[in-house]
Amino acid sequence: MEINDHKMMNHPLIIGHRGAKGLVAENTLESIQKALDHRVAGIEIDIHRCNTGELVVIHDETVDRTTNGKGKVCKLTLEDLKTLEIDGQYKIPTLDEVLQVIDGRCLLNIELKGEKTAKLTVKAIQECLKNKKWSRENFLVSSFDWSQLQKVQKLDPEIRLGVLSEGKLKKAFKMAKKLNAYAIHPDYTLLKRHHMWRAKRRGLKVFTWTVNAEEAVEKVKNLNVTAIITDYPDRYATV
Ligand code: G3P
Ligand code: CA
Repeated sequence: MEINDHKMMNHPLIIGHRGAKGLVAENTLESIQKALDHRVAGIEIDIHRCNTGELVVIHDETVDRTTNGKGKVCKLTLEDLKTLEIDGQYKIPTLDEVLQVIDGRCLLNIELKGEKTAKLTVKAIQECLKNKKWSRENFLVSSFDWSQLQKVQKLDPEIRLGVLSEGKLKKAFKMAKKLNAYAIHPDYTLLKRHHMWRAKRRGLKVFTWTVNAEEAVEKVKNLNVTAIITDYPDRYATV
């Protein structure tokens, strides 16, 4: 179903946060597969660049919280990272591995976390677009680091961009205009009806995060958001 069909039915798109973080260890292939099993409209992942130049899917700057290892992702080689375990059973995936698993079956929201991620992400997206299974509508690149988004825009102005914001939305709207962004990605607790009006006037979609509790889902549904990024796609993928 296309984004606009969902909107006409007032059904926000359900996007699995870090795969299906509430169900399986975040940002793993297994978590992504779980989100796909629940027929999500999209999946959100976090990207860093490791020491040998590959893009890897992990939320934090270091591997300390999510794996049995220690150290900064940007200082570790892909070989180092692949020896680490997440919850004793999973591995840190590369972006390429995630792309192979998703295989054009849903929207992929790639959040650029680390430095020097823009150019490699553009390259990976452009490579996918050579394959008929993927189209530009499958990709949405977001970041709190708006300088990375500016780089993406310079390299490929047709890639859809989402301006992430964890504070007041005024600056995010300004940046969205400058970047000709596709969407703004506000923290749902800060999202108000006047923001929705402004987004509508400017032709911006609204992807809000991280919406887990039922009351929170009700709130953002009533605001008519485009998409809900949630840890629990099992609860809401049929909302
Ligand atoms: O992209 C939405 C959300 O993932 C942003 O926050 O910290 O979970 O990456 P965080
Ligand atoms: Ca994220």
